[in-house]
Amino acid sequence: MKDGNNTMSQTKTILLALAGETRPTPPIWMMRQAGRYLPEYRATRAQAGDFLSLCYNPELAAEVTLQPIRRYGFDAAILFADILLLPQALGADLWFVTGEGPRLSTITEQADFEKLKPVDEIDAVLNPIYETIRILRRELPEETTLIGFAGAPWTVATYMIAGRGTPDQGPAHALKAENRVLFEALIDRITEGTIEYLSKQINAGAEVVKIFDSWAGSLKGEDFQKYAVEPARKITQAIKARHPDTPVIGFPREAGDGYIGFAKATGVDCVAIDNSVSADWAAAHVQKDGCVQGNLASRHMVTGGQALVDETQAIVKAFSGGPHIFNLGHGITPDADPDNVQRMIDAVRGE
Ligand code: CP3
Repeated sequence: MKDGNNTMSQTKTILLALAGETRPTPPIWMMRQAGRYLPEYRATRAQAGDFLSLCYNPELAAEVTLQPIRRYGFDAAILFADILLLPQALGADLWFVTGEGPRLSTITEQADFEKLKPVDEIDAVLNPIYETIRILRRELPEETTLIGFAGAPWTVATYMIAGRGTPDQGPAHALKAENRVLFEALIDRITEGTIEYLSKQINAGAEVVKIFDSWAGSLKGEDFQKYAVEPARKITQAIKARHPDTPVIGFPREAGDGYIGFAKATGVDCVAIDNSVSADWAAAHVQKDGCVQGNLASRHMVTGGQALVDETQAIVKAFSGGPHIFNLGHGITPDADPDNVQRMIDAVRGE
């Protein structure tokens, strides 16, 4: 059995949808399903001490990955980790400021880039992540698909350049304009690191991998082609060459018209759609080329009510003519009500 993806997989509805099957009920999971809206997550995070200690503790990271599976029976589990662990493995300093978000050492000149480590050294930091995956493959129910992930090079670069999250990715756009050689060298290093990281996740037992390009929407025109499409294509081709049976999900968030043709241009098996576009639009323009994932606005997990049920059913209906994995348009927020998650699942499954 190759990459754990053939004979055993009949009950794994996510793999069936990714293979292009239109399911009577779309399989469902949720971005950030292991997170602060769950009391059991907050308890385990407190036990770990802080967020990064949780990410690098295989037993506890596996535990929080399993929590939403136990509570809700999602069809997929996503590895508990973060897209910023790869920069850390490449030598960037990384820490999280509670209530504010990530902080990293910055990359603004060639000398900063020179300090980064070569790609063949990343496992020294990332080995615990592969161990988390091995634990999960033992402990997950057999019908639950395990998704590994990494950030897309552009999105990861925006954090490595600015040293933090930015509303408009200004520092990364500035470096791209002022020192294109350095900017592209950084994109290339992250691309190579991502290929190695995802490939090792698959070797450890990840059955699907997802590439999160959260800031793809700020790349316009030719930049979108060069720094969102092209790196996703390189990563997908390299993964497919090494692991032909492992599906890849691409998420060029807020790409708008850039979603059209993204699967064909990159080779991804599924395009995850955010909620800035309508499900009807995405069905007509994106799902015509294959599986899509999405796209309920996360605020419904806070506001609930009949609007949550109506909107969930409208999305299921809009995508019912082709392969679809139900998800939110972005991660669930810490102020969400766990009961609303159950209401969404019931609405999807018609219960
Ligand atoms: O989805 C999951 O349940 C799997 C785990 C996961 C996390 N981050 C855990 C996390 C995944 C897939 C990510 C991806 C990620 N991380 C992205 C891409 C997706 C997106 O949301 O756009 C990005 C941009 C990051 C970087 C990052 N990590 C930021 C900006 C922050 C701070 C903002 C915030 O929500 O607090 C994080 C922290 C983070 N990553 C948390 C979790 C559960 C919260 C940390 C905590 O417990 O305090």
